[in-house]
Amino acid sequence: MIAMELQKWILCFTFIVFHFAGLCAETQDSDLDLADGGDIQNELGASFPPLESPPVHFATENNTVVTAQTGSTALLPCVINNIGDGTVSWIRRKDYYQLLTVGLTTYSSDDRFQTIHLQHSEDWTLQIKFVQQRDAGMYECQVSSHPSTSIFVQLNVVEARADIEGPSEKYLKPGSGLRLQCTVLQSTEPPAYVFWYHNNRMINYDVDRGINVTTELSEKSSTLTITNAATRHSGNYSCFPSNAQGASTYVHILNGENPAAMQHGGRGLSWLQCSPSSWLLIAFSLIVLMC
Ligand SMILES: *[C@@H]1O[C@H](CO)[C@@H](O)[C@H](O)[C@H]1NC(C)=O
Ligand SMILES: *[C@@H]1O[C@H](CO)[C@@H](O)[C@H](O)[C@H]1NC(C)=O
Ligand SMILES: *[C@@H]1O[C@H](CO)[C@@H](O)[C@H](O)[C@H]1NC(C)=O
Repeated sequence: MIAMELQKWILCFTFIVFHFAGLCAETQDSDLDLADGGDIQNELGASFPPLESPPVHFATENNTVVTAQTGSTALLPCVINNIGDGTVSWIRRKDYYQLLTVGLTTYSSDDRFQTIHLQHSEDWTLQIKFVQQRDAGMYECQVSSHPSTSIFVQLNVVEARADIEGPSEKYLKPGSGLRLQCTVLQSTEPPAYVFWYHNNRMINYDVDRGINVTTELSEKSSTLTITNAATRHSGNYSCFPSNAQGASTYVHILNGENPAAMQHGGRGLSWLQCSPSSWLLIAFSLIVLMC
């Protein structure tokens, strides 16, 4: 009997001990939970104040650089997330401050400027048609939220130019072949056409005069060939691509003379071109001979 009573007591005691240990562990856990919960609430409260829309964010990188060729169409990007009811303005930032567009309206008297935006898109690209050298510089894409915020886009304008291969003056014997190759340099897009001039005459279609012009627009290159050069072919040859500055070269067709003679004004009288000291020496020799 006593043993039974003892066993009961031991069981009861163990139960109570474990129960309290468990309770204790539970309270510790819930203490931790409480502490964590408090922290989370504080963080939430700090970074996401209630009842405010997410901030305006530019998806276009600030100080993006765009390069365009004169005469082409430049596209200045400005992609904006969370614009809300903000309005987008493009502003020219040179030594002056010129409002170009507000929303989809162009304010500049220069109608080459236009904002391209599709409804519900986040893209507010500024389009500049027929880019000129003076358009180069800084542009500001501004959102009129509170406070207003903006990014800058830099426009670089390159002047495409033509180049005729070889020296700027060429010397040829009659009957020889002439080949002039004109290439467009520094261009971002191919030309629509390339015109060749001989002095003031356009010669692209002068096949009957022995002139062959072949243009590879995609290669940005044009070649003029004359198979049998004659004196009448001498003169100033220039090529003018539609969207680049022209280039020229002067072609001399020689009359059997050699180019060195042409350049130095004839060698027939070259012995006359003596230095003063040589003349002194000759005079001295003559005096010595006479004495
Ligand atoms: C973009 O850079 C300019 C300075 O170059 C700065 O004034 C402007 O605040 C920047 N914009 C953003 C949205 O960071
Ligand atoms: C002109 O030159 C091109 C290539 O150089 C040639 O294919 C073409 O047949 C020539 N045309 C004439 C009319 O000679
Ligand atoms: C050749 O013609 C081009 C284009 O008309 C002109 O710019 C250039 O000065 C001329 N060159 C010469 C040597 O006459």
